[in-house]
Amino acid sequence: MKVVCLQSSPHMTGNTATALEWLMDETRAAGHDVERFDLANMQIAPCRGCFMCQRDPSVLECAMKDEGLTLLGKMAAADAVIYATPLYCWSFTAQAQLLLDRHLCLVTGFTDPARKASHVSGKRAALLATCGGPKGEGNTDTLSTIFERLADFCDYQFAGELILDLCTSPNALGAEHERVVREFARGLLA
Ligand SMILES: Cc1cc2nc3c(=O)[nH]c(=O)nc-3n(C[C@H](O)[C@H](O)[C@H](O)COP(=O)(O)O)c2cc1C
Repeated sequence: MKVVCLQSSPHMTGNTATALEWLMDETRAAGHDVERFDLANMQIAPCRGCFMCQRDPSVLECAMKDEGLTLLGKMAAADAVIYATPLYCWSFTAQAQLLLDRHLCLVTGFTDPARKASHVSGKRAALLATCGGPKGEGNTDTLSTIFERLADFCDYQFAGELILDLCTSPNALGAEHERVVREFARGLLA
């Protein structure tokens, strides 16, 4: 399978990137083709809400011909997309949010279930997150809800969610986290 990994932390070797690298390593070892994209290093313009992307369901288009559009094209060509993010103010980072808004390009006819079409329909999608506080209501629940809604909107096949909590320092992850991430990775594409 072709797997696109979206790394949304500004830290290239922080908790999220470290966890994602374990996931990618495990996924590669299983024979999959895995690619990582660091959103903080990419030119991704904010959605302008022009709805040009809604003109033709057969074409993935956007008024902004930037790296965001290229990345959405790679997601449409992949079999699975991993959304990796640190929790920022109970949600995705701003770097991720820019791309999430641009997901409008992936879906057309969303106001009418009979006409709705998605360029990522049926592809697997999973969430991998790290955070400083505890998992659960009042902290990570908003992120989980947003991801579930995104998966539903895009007609993804929800493949799973893993949140590593209590990551209070930049190097908070240890051997037990690695074991949990690798186990999660094995289940994703099985
Ligand atoms: C701006 C900012 C906002 C944050 N908001 C939260 C939060 O709402 N809840 C939480 O548990 N941790 C929060 N954190 C902590 C990070 O999610 C946590 O340290 C994470 O593991 C950092 O990942 P990274 O090393 O990949 O950047 C925040 C950190 C920053 C810098």
